[in-house]
Amino acid sequence: MKSWRSADGIEVRWYSLVDSTNDVARLWAVEGAASGSVVVADEQTAGRGRRGAVWVCPAGEGLAFSQVLRPSMPRALWPRLALIAGLAVAKTLEKYGVAAEVKWPNDVLFDGKKMAGILVESTDDAVIVGVGLNVNVADFPVEIADTATSLLRETGQEMDRRFLLEQLAQSIQSHASRAERDFPELLEQLRERCALGGKRVSLWLGNEALMVDVMGIGARGELLVERDGNIEALMQADQIRIIR
Ligand code: BTN
Repeated sequence: MKSWRSADGIEVRWYSLVDSTNDVARLWAVEGAASGSVVVADEQTAGRGRRGAVWVCPAGEGLAFSQVLRPSMPRALWPRLALIAGLAVAKTLEKYGVAAEVKWPNDVLFDGKKMAGILVESTDDAVIVGVGLNVNVADFPVEIADTATSLLRETGQEMDRRFLLEQLAQSIQSHASRAERDFPELLEQLRERCALGGKRVSLWLGNEALMVDVMGIGARGELLVERDGNIEALMQADQIRIIR
């Protein structure tokens, strides 16, 4: 494991192989990792996504990292950080000329294809923001070849993963602290990058499969949808797919 402190003062621990960076970051958080601390790995043996999905990325080609945050906002507001992390990643990608969109709550897409996924978990007193970003991935397995993309595929450039990691970690940390006092402004930025606005989507709400029209994102970060003529505010939904 290599460790260092970035120019912004963020402590980074870079491993070649771990089970899941979220698990390593959780242990470090319990031991007292400072807010902003980052665990990154070239390869994960048990990288996971939301709803028990598996997150796989060829060794050394992506960025799989988890950042410990210690918010001072009330715990009930922590879900805001899941939304804001997607925005922070999308805005970092814009620096590379990639017009990224956020598919609520926090998948990061380019041209409808997934470039990054985010898994936010928590301990008693910390939030763990886990980010999987397809960086220098040239080819994807056939199962996801039509739905995934990478920075390399979209820009034609190989990226320096360490430099990019530090930019992303700084962006997530500063957006998380802005979310404490400036959430409405960040929501506005999220709305400008919302991949679902005005779309008809299918989704799962618990055990119910629904077809709804997305109206936008509400003041608490909820997804506003129209179903059978009624507007509903969803705080959570699974397997959202754009129909048209
Ligand atoms: C998703 O798209 O469902 C979320 C994927 C999150 C993957 C990242 S990779 C780094 C961190 N460690 C994990 O085990 N998962 C997250």
